[in-house]
Amino acid sequence: MKENDEKISMLTSYDFTTAGIVDKSGIDIILVGDSASNVMAGHETTLPITLDEMIYHASSVIRAVKRALVVVDLPFGTYQSDSQAALESAIRIMKESGSHAVKLEGGKEIKDSIKRIIKAGIPVMGHLGLTPQSIYKFGTYTVRAKEKKEAEQLVKDAILLEKTGCFAIVLEKVPSKLAKKIAKEIKIPIIGIGAGSGVDGQVLVLHDMLGMTKEFNPRFLRRYMNLHDDMITAISSFSKDIKTGNFPNEKEQY
Ligand code: KIV
Repeated sequence: MKENDEKISMLTSYDFTTAGIVDKSGIDIILVGDSASNVMAGHETTLPITLDEMIYHASSVIRAVKRALVVVDLPFGTYQSDSQAALESAIRIMKESGSHAVKLEGGKEIKDSIKRIIKAGIPVMGHLGLTPQSIYKFGTYTVRAKEKKEAEQLVKDAILLEKTGCFAIVLEKVPSKLAKKIAKEIKIPIIGIGAGSGVDGQVLVLHDMLGMTKEFNPRFLRRYMNLHDDMITAISSFSKDIKTGNFPNEKEQY
């Protein structure tokens, strides 16, 4: 797709019902992101979600998907210690969920793990820039690589991930000029989130772009619906209809 100048679309999904809808809508890649930790479980960060929980989400998604590529995040703590642990985690995801690829956050520090996973026949997507699993190192969710030194390291990491064999890289919250330069410099697709329009594809969190979440308002987020308010309207109408005896009506009973 990159070679043909065709942009790649990617959205998160964590469950059977939404994955079926996303798949039918023609999205290229479904990401079972560890953002499930925030969106599904209500944790403040992505750190608490476990491998078993990710496998549960991924296998629910896989049962609904007929055409999209399904990529699953390796959760925090399941690949950082050493390459053996990383391989075992990736194998569990592939074997127990039936997914197609895994995603890992980081650059040179996880090179050996990426290498070993790819060697076992598992496709790997990289993730650079703002890497939410390292939030306590960064301290904030602000734009990364604004300074020269960090930008240079980011370019080096992207080249390294390509050389190591990653098939694509998610680039999160970095200046658009830098993201465009990286996308030009390497052959594998760069999928951006808050990385501007000069990259090879875009990803958003489904619940954010549908407007189900209200408090999260980064500049890069475009809401295509206001589902939060629409759901409240629908659910409160349902509640009112029950209380007034308007539901069920004659036709809605046996
Ligand atoms: O977990 C996730 O949803 C992600 C995307 C934000 C890229 O990694």
